[in-house]
Amino acid sequence: MKYLPLFAFTIGLIGGANAETLTRDNGAPVGDNQNAQTAGENGGNLLQDVQLIQKLQRFARERIPERVVHARGTGVHGEFVPTADISNLTRAAVFAPGSKTPVFVRFSTVIHSKGSPETLRDPRGFATKFYTEEGNWDLVGNNLPVFFIRDAIKFPDMVHSLKPSPVTNQQDPNRFFDFFRHVPEATHMLSWVYSDYGTPANLRQMDGWGVHAYKLVNEKGEVHYVKFHWKSRQGINNLTAEEATEIQAKDFSHATSDMYTAIEKGDFPQWDLYIKVLNPAQLEDFNYNPLDATKMWLDVPETQVGTMTLNRMPTNFFQETEQSAFAPANTIPGIEPSEDRLLQGRVFSYSDTQMYRLGTNHQQLPINRPRVVVQNWNQDGAGNYGQQTSEVNYQPSRIDARKEDSKGLYSSKPLTASTQQKAIEKKLPFAQAGVFYRGLSPKERQNLIENLAGDLGKVRDDNTKHIMLSYFYRADRDYGERLTKAVGGDLDQVRKVEP
Ligand code: HEM
Repeated sequence: MKYLPLFAFTIGLIGGANAETLTRDNGAPVGDNQNAQTAGENGGNLLQDVQLIQKLQRFARERIPERVVHARGTGVHGEFVPTADISNLTRAAVFAPGSKTPVFVRFSTVIHSKGSPETLRDPRGFATKFYTEEGNWDLVGNNLPVFFIRDAIKFPDMVHSLKPSPVTNQQDPNRFFDFFRHVPEATHMLSWVYSDYGTPANLRQMDGWGVHAYKLVNEKGEVHYVKFHWKSRQGINNLTAEEATEIQAKDFSHATSDMYTAIEKGDFPQWDLYIKVLNPAQLEDFNYNPLDATKMWLDVPETQVGTMTLNRMPTNFFQETEQSAFAPANTIPGIEPSEDRLLQGRVFSYSDTQMYRLGTNHQQLPINRPRVVVQNWNQDGAGNYGQQTSEVNYQPSRIDARKEDSKGLYSSKPLTASTQQKAIEKKLPFAQAGVFYRGLSPKERQNLIENLAGDLGKVRDDNTKHIMLSYFYRADRDYGERLTKAVGGDLDQVRKVEP
């Protein structure tokens, strides 16, 4: 029985091939899977050989487009339990005391393609799908607390600059620093990525961060702004550049392999979920904009609200990891996107790309399907596996009683502004990069300087190099001076760059 495909169970077997029989995709038995049909001993192949043709056709169509970013990843199943009653903050089912929610997490690297080494310097994706009683909630985060940019309109350009050159097909610091010289707010994230946090030792020993502010909404409709943080119970363990190079020479999959080994041994990795909370009035209390994804809420205390345990690897990588689709648009009552401009773009972008990458009905696939009944009149489309049987495919209707539930209403926010197209006011591009630098140990600082100098030193355009150096200098004088020395730059020129 274990060889039967999933649909055999869901539609029920009505006879035909038994469990040991190979079949074509229409269920008919295959007579010979070793010899194709030919016209005699030395004649050509026959067009009527459906088994040969179907096999070659299916084989030719095995690949789907890889994710445009975060192509290389590993998925793991597990569960989440809340550890504190936060009903004063949110009505979200996932935080209901005493509940247990199945989760699926996909860890990934960002820039390089599906078969790339897991040792490369990059943020790591940390995406969690919670299959809650009120639909799926996806918390699509990274292993670093901030991001490079604060406006979604910059994302495709940033990714183009970081991906291999369209001419040479190689990643080139000349290209991405040419982009980042125009993005001073990236200084904070670049500092994290070029530190050893950019090469985590494995997937278990790294934290996860929601990065953006989200909104929690309680039964009374009251809103609080929160940031989410997964703290690894395994601690943090990063690789130096030398260690990463050494591992890469032997193994392209060290992080995936570490996860398989841990789960196989029953050494289930755990993360505690922490939140930082601000009420809407407090958003004004900072010298930066708290809805800016390049910033951490440094002085806001965090509280533990739950624990996640990962305990089961997928049985099929393609079905449960390649076809998994996480989207910041997947929210549930009690959790909403904040007005963070980067997040607002993400709320659109993921579902859109998944309709292209996986198809219109990708949310019906077993790995993505909510564990609650989905009923609406979004219909048809390629690959539809829905159970729509009614003649009523519209709403409202006197015949069909299904209707809205006020639980699903978004919170409301009073607005007085005019529409506009301009940058945020409180930018503070460098200060938190300095805080990060000063928080590192002397050895970690040294590694950061060396890692960053390795790439910045390759930049041929002197002006770009000095502008980038001036950003790190503004973050912290020692940081900038050491980096300038390491790339043979001119400190006078660095100091002269206008902010
Ligand atoms: C406007 C900014 C961004 C845009 C437009 C964007 C867009 C995308 C797209 C198109 C994908 C591929 C999705 C798929 O094919 O399934 C993706 C994947 C991903 N992004 Fe972003 N992204 C942005 C910023 C971010 C940020 C700030 C984070 C972290 C907080 C992040 C974390 C991830 C993760 C973890 C994945 C992989 C999800 C998975 O494992 O399938 N992205 N992003």
